[in-house]
Amino acid sequence: MKNLLTTYRAHLPITSHTPLLTLGEGDTPLIAAPALSRETGAEVFLKLEGCNPTGSFKDRGMVVAVAKAVEEGARAVICASTGNTAASAAAYAARAGLTCAVVIPAGKIALGKLAQAMMHHARVLPIEGNFDTALKLARELAEPGSTPGGASITLVNSINPYRIEGQKTGAFEIVDALGDVSETLCVALPVGNAGNITAYWRGFTEYHRAGKSKLPKMFGFQAAGAAPLVRGAPIENPQTVATAIRIGNPASWRGAVAARDESGGLIEAVTDDEILAAYHFLAEREGVFCEPASAAGVAGIIQLARENRLPRGARIVCILTGSGLKDPDTAMARRELPRPLPATIDALTRALGL
Ligand SMILES: Cc1ncc(COP(=O)(O)O)c(C=O)c1O
Repeated sequence: MKNLLTTYRAHLPITSHTPLLTLGEGDTPLIAAPALSRETGAEVFLKLEGCNPTGSFKDRGMVVAVAKAVEEGARAVICASTGNTAASAAAYAARAGLTCAVVIPAGKIALGKLAQAMMHHARVLPIEGNFDTALKLARELAEPGSTPGGASITLVNSINPYRIEGQKTGAFEIVDALGDVSETLCVALPVGNAGNITAYWRGFTEYHRAGKSKLPKMFGFQAAGAAPLVRGAPIENPQTVATAIRIGNPASWRGAVAARDESGGLIEAVTDDEILAAYHFLAEREGVFCEPASAAGVAGIIQLARENRLPRGARIVCILTGSGLKDPDTAMARRELPRPLPATIDALTRALGL
């Protein structure tokens, strides 16, 4: 049976008292991307993190954070979220019997993610503010003694070190699936709060130190309207169609910069139009429906290929961080539902035009 905590136990902070919580996270498919390989001239693979139990990569870190919260006697967990962290925290908290509170920017959470948090019975706290403000509030609420009842609430955002520990297992899986990684491997991923790029780099460096792998280059991509790491300064009012990465002041800023610089990689910006073009490309040409934020990494490598900036002989793994089903509104806003037809073969044949 799939269980991230037992598969990678030797690399995780698991003790004999840690409950072996699982919803079947990790072990996600790594598939070849033939159309994208033709488009970029590189050998491209897609890591389908949308196949995790709640439909995003967040489950890898959340299972560790919630298991450790239980071990340490917490009764409740809290997070700020652009949606996926909330969905994941709510699911694992439900499984573990903990109360879960989620602070979210009102009106900026994709419908599927909100439905998940609500169905798992999280205490949903929408605020009139953006993610960065939500995180500040969640951090304060998790301070000991900050609630009148004095309950101990564990913060499960990626500043919780157990989140990064769990998320680094994505890097282990890439090496385990590809065999030895050579220096021509590039890992492309979207960057928001920057926990994931920090975690992947930690995973690769741990395997490297254990003599299991060479080190890849980390290619992070932010949305142009929410690209503080590219600009080199926080952004007051971040804007992008990719709501999951609508973040102006990433908590793991230093981890992201270290991943970029130590790996000889880059962190650049892609426009919303480029993100949406990659979102369509993946759905129409690769048969993979991811959420808009997840397409930022793919948009980035398409851009680099056009500018002839991909390393010669590059092998690229794009981390598709979340499922397209998370955000049905964005998908349907870009497609027109055909009008109903008469229920006859004749009408259907004419409509098909084949
Ligand atoms: C689908 C998706 N992709 C990418 C990210 C960015 O990850 P990070 O905040 O760890 O940089 C998020 C964060 O919420 C996300 O939900």
